[in-house]
Amino acid sequence: MSGLAVYPGSFDPPTLGHLSLVDQGLALFDRLVVAVARNSAKASLFTVEERVAMLREALAGHDRVEVDSFEGLLVSYARGRGATAILRGLRGTSDFEYEFQMALVNRHLEPGLHSVYLMTDYRWLYISSTIVKEVAAHGVDIGDMVPPSAARALAEKFRKA
Ligand code: COA
Repeated sequence: MSGLAVYPGSFDPPTLGHLSLVDQGLALFDRLVVAVARNSAKASLFTVEERVAMLREALAGHDRVEVDSFEGLLVSYARGRGATAILRGLRGTSDFEYEFQMALVNRHLEPGLHSVYLMTDYRWLYISSTIVKEVAAHGVDIGDMVPPSAARALAEKFRKA
């Protein structure tokens, strides 16, 4: 595979699982756009700008990766960027049904855009942004689950709370 893939998500906050998926994606695609969704249905802890900043810092050494945000339909954004694929991670069967539905909807909306799913590294199977926030809220060090930019931002958020 080659070309450009969009890796969308809420990234609230980004975790080492997300970053490992970026590394896997770079083995398949020439360029990746990590795209933070603005209109996610989920209530978020961080603003989109904060999430973009955390990702940019965490991915600063990756010259084939761009961090951006988008609003509206993912397929419209991906089309506008000239992407040939949407990249997503799968952590286990619990992710499957939702992802399957999303892939089919996106294919219906934009048949030329392929959804590519990669298995999350086993070390991050149990991690989600929700779990990271919950643990961090109790003052526990989550430095082994998230990049330093997110660890700092979480500590700051919960110090203020
Ligand atoms: N390692 C570890 N954890 C991972 C992971 C990985 N590789 N990949 C995802 N996760 C976790 C995330 O931390 C997140 O945890 P949380 O639920 O506790 O927050 C969870 O898996 C899923 O989050 P994410 O990958 O960010 O997906 P999402 O469901 O939040 O985002 C969008 C989905 C934004 C891509 C989707 O809603 C979208 O495309 N929206 C635009 C509107 C649209 O086009 N809709 C029609 C398409 S259905």
